[in-house]
Amino acid sequence: MKKLNYLLAFTLGVTMLISCGGDKKKDNTTTTSETQTENPAKEENQGVKITISGDDQMKFNKNEIRVPVGEKVILTLKHTGKMDKSVMGHNWVLLAQGTDMTAFATEAAQATATDYIPENGKENVIAHTKVLGGGESDTIEFTITEAGAYDFLCTFPAHFALMQGKLIAE
Ligand code: CO
Repeated sequence: MKKLNYLLAFTLGVTMLISCGGDKKKDNTTTTSETQTENPAKEENQGVKITISGDDQMKFNKNEIRVPVGEKVILTLKHTGKMDKSVMGHNWVLLAQGTDMTAFATEAAQATATDYIPENGKENVIAHTKVLGGGESDTIEFTITEAGAYDFLCTFPAHFALMQGKLIAE
């Protein structure tokens, strides 16, 4: 009987310990989920923030960007290099679906007067930043209303072969 009492007390003790631990865990979970629900709501109001960078090696740090359809995208291009924009200029240009990228880039490379956005073909540009030199950045906003894959590139002369990628709207 004594042994049984001891066992009962022990079992009770363990049960209480588990309950206690369980409660504590539950509290933590509640706190976390509260924080999690706050953030997406904020992001929804402010839009989806995307950062992409270009460097002195003539490379973007991303060749794929995913964005939600119908939501405002706030995209920042950063030039993380040191070189001047006259020799290592970078911009980020998003093209409409069905645009011939090579033809567009060839046209754009000659458009020095209009920051490498060509008069002939600018109707294919959904959004673009300005051309940046080392240390500079530019932020633009746009909304993609149709799901699909869109080409992006840097239109600085001879850069698009290495500096291009896909924006996926889904
Ligand atoms: Co470039």
